[in-house]
Amino acid sequence: MSGLMELVILVACCFFLVTLIKFLYDYLWIPLRIQHILNSQGIKGPPIRFIHGNNKEIAKMKQEALGKPVAWTDDLFPRLQPHIYSWINRYGKNFVYWDGARAELVISEPELVKEVLKNSENIFQKVKLPEISRKLMGNGLAFTEGEKWAKYRKLANHTFHGESLKNMTPAMIASVETMLEKWNGQEGQEIEVFQEFRLLTSEVISKTAFGSSYLEGEKIFALLYKLKILVSRNMSKTTIPFINKLWKSADLLESEKLAKGIQDCVMKIVKKREDQVVNGEADSFGNDFLGLLVNAYHDLDQKNRLSLQDLVDECKTFYISGQETVNSLLGWIVLHLAIYGDWQEKARREVIDIFGKQNPHLEGITKLKTIVWSVKWLGKNSCKRSTVGKVSLAC
Ligand code: HEM
Repeated sequence: MSGLMELVILVACCFFLVTLIKFLYDYLWIPLRIQHILNSQGIKGPPIRFIHGNNKEIAKMKQEALGKPVAWTDDLFPRLQPHIYSWINRYGKNFVYWDGARAELVISEPELVKEVLKNSENIFQKVKLPEISRKLMGNGLAFTEGEKWAKYRKLANHTFHGESLKNMTPAMIASVETMLEKWNGQEGQEIEVFQEFRLLTSEVISKTAFGSSYLEGEKIFALLYKLKILVSRNMSKTTIPFINKLWKSADLLESEKLAKGIQDCVMKIVKKREDQVVNGEADSFGNDFLGLLVNAYHDLDQKNRLSLQDLVDECKTFYISGQETVNSLLGWIVLHLAIYGDWQEKARREVIDIFGKQNPHLEGITKLKTIVWSVKWLGKNSCKRSTVGKVSLAC
């Protein structure tokens, strides 16, 4: 008996020792080695703290920056990315900082950025998300690579094809008309346009990509919104993989519940499509994005078939990437048109010259020089202010 006891204690000690060595290797040896390699090439950065890296400083800097009042003329970069702004000034255009034990190499030299963007030999991999963030988009298009990415991308490309976009125009116009009619009834009152554009973009993406009404998509957007708040709250928090397996934080548990809720909603919309075919109400799953996904989900060739999880992740990716981006861009443009009255006047004159009192059509949209230029300029300048090329080094 005592021999067995000794064996158990020995195994437990060995297990503990191996875990400790692995932990020190991942959290001490690898970061110090990477830091040494980068330092020897002249790339410096803030001092690394054991386990946390620079996460605590980043969270503090962000909290301080967001707590300050902001004028519309202010440079947004120090407010949105205070750590990057401060460290570029201190350590130069290229520097390294630490997300826990993971090195983040920030580069803002155009030649190096070009090299990363070309990425012809697939040296620079997509970032691996922490567990909570993965609940938001899962392994959808934005985070997959290689063959899987090519398969998903083919489906997405079809949705962005000129002919597909043309077919979406009536639905977009109808949603904008509904919004403008509502605004007409509120003349002289203050309108929270960002919220209005949130409804508009949610409705447009629901109708055009998923063939469903805003009401059907509403619950998905509400759950995604809650999940997004959880993700941003946990952005600069350190996670230790082994501990994560033993103990889940309240936010992680909540994110699992939300992800399950989203999956159920998506499956309801998918089931509706399937039922329409089974009941003979439709002869295919449809040509919109959801139709293509459901087709791939039922593909007889296993090589091309989409799993249930992939189908849900792709839907989440489209709901988020299609809505958040356009919502912010519309809000940003309207803010600038409100500030720069002369540009507002130019844009209005151009629209009236090309469309008169008609609804916009694709042919005319290509002639909107002032508007297209403003969108590009605003997009470019907002990006220039808020981001720099960022590459992750896998540890
Ligand atoms: C103002 C509008 C938009 C902006 C500024 C924007 C910006 C971006 C950026 C910067 C990327 C990353 C590209 C990369 O990493 O290579 C991206 C990827 C993506 N966007 Fe958008 N986007 C916009 C609208 C949309 C819309 C309307 C949809 C869908 C309806 C969409 C779906 C996607 C998808 C699926 C990806 C992943 C593509 C891939 O990895 O192959 N985006 N977007």
